[in-house]
Amino acid sequence: MSKIGIIGAMDLEVEELKSKMQVSRILQKAKMDFYEGKLGNADVVVVKCGIGKINAALCVQILADVFSVTHVINTGVAGSLNVKLDIGDILISRDALHHDMDVTIFGYALGEVPQMGFREFVADETLVQLAKTTCEEVNPDLHVVVGRVVSGDQFISSKEVKEHLISTFQGDCAEMEGASVAHGAYLNNIPFVIIRAISDKADDSAEMDYPTFERAAARHSARLVEHMVEKIS
Ligand code: ADE
Repeated sequence: MSKIGIIGAMDLEVEELKSKMQVSRILQKAKMDFYEGKLGNADVVVVKCGIGKINAALCVQILADVFSVTHVINTGVAGSLNVKLDIGDILISRDALHHDMDVTIFGYALGEVPQMGFREFVADETLVQLAKTTCEEVNPDLHVVVGRVVSGDQFISSKEVKEHLISTFQGDCAEMEGASVAHGAYLNNIPFVIIRAISDKADDSAEMDYPTFERAAARHSARLVEHMVEKIS
């Protein structure tokens, strides 16, 4: 039977999901509260991991070790790197990478974690398709793109850095946890998908846009996750 771990970095990314759950148990571990129970018919564990890649990685490992989740979904907001993705629109991960990993001095590609043999963590195709079709049903007014999540421990708010993330990594959105969720899921052989709604354009306007749009964007992503989990068998 499926048990789906749902990770958001911030309260506003998971609060709606938690409010719709039938909670059977709350377990605290690594200062994270894991809400176990039902979301509709689906068995889920919903958790706020905190911001950044280390929190996200720890969280996935706990979901694997303590809750034996069968799937991992990362929901939240992101800065757009793709002209087709406007504020409020949805990016579903085809893959994810760490844009702040640099061991190029020893011949690795920028973004490649040494000795892994690849740079991009590929999302589960079934979850990607399910997210896409559910998004088209639930959020028909929004653009949905299947693309690349680039993650790093930095908030992207300059045109120059944005251009670098596009030209070097062909990223579609920038955020701060997705690649670590993907990395942790890969190491534990758990299928994953990252779903992000756009809160800003990751450029000089991001500082203004982010606080204005983060809540509405977070809701778009959470609503999609809510409708998607019941279809995971
Ligand atoms: N999350 C939302 N917007 C972001 C940005 N511009 N950079 C990093 N993480 C984000």
